[in-house]
Amino acid sequence: MTQDDLKRAAAQAAIAYVPDDAIVGVGTGSTVNFFIAELAKIKSRVKAAVSSSEASSKLLKEAGIDVLSLNDAGPFAVYVDGADEITPHLAMIKGGGGALTREKIVAAAADQFVCIADASKVVDVLGTFPLPVEVIPMARSYVARELVKLGGHPEWRMKDGKPNVTDNGNAILDVRGMTITDPVGLETAINQIAGVVANGLFARRGADVALIARREGVATLKR
Ligand code: A5P
Repeated sequence: MTQDDLKRAAAQAAIAYVPDDAIVGVGTGSTVNFFIAELAKIKSRVKAAVSSSEASSKLLKEAGIDVLSLNDAGPFAVYVDGADEITPHLAMIKGGGGALTREKIVAAAADQFVCIADASKVVDVLGTFPLPVEVIPMARSYVARELVKLGGHPEWRMKDGKPNVTDNGNAILDVRGMTITDPVGLETAINQIAGVVANGLFARRGADVALIARREGVATLKR
């Protein structure tokens, strides 16, 4: 079984959490791409999607699924997304794909957050994966100095040799060297730095359910 097989298995398991004729919140990343492929198979019973990135919106539209803006969607039942790291308590680091701010917004608006991941993403303590922080461009150096005070080693994210620009027009700092024993406290502290748009800790609002694909099958973890 390859890692892609495991991602697909987690994505397939998430379909059971999609109610009939509902609006579905859709995350971003390679695991979610498998979920979008699964959604396409049941699109006759999907009312529409709210998407967390331009990349996912494009795939959803190509699959024939309507994409609504969050402002037009109203309340909706479920948000499905991947993670870069997830603990057994369902706190996560996200944002490896740079979509963390919209992911956090769409997740916040959903009744239930279902995380889909292969078992390689499960950790006891978050922080081996660099923590992404989206910042307003003019605040980048200031925020980086404040993150150093919190014990981190921030690095300006580049893509193809140029500064990475998010869907919101902002920069990303990837922060290494954090051993995150208090994810809720650190998420809150980073949010307090002027110029931070969002950080990739999803602990204040973690996942409600995690579908973790292992070779032996998909395990369901609940908060
Ligand atoms: C995107 O910004 C991220 O939060 C993704 O959800 C996360 O990086 C997981 O991506 P993969 O499914 O590609 O590992």
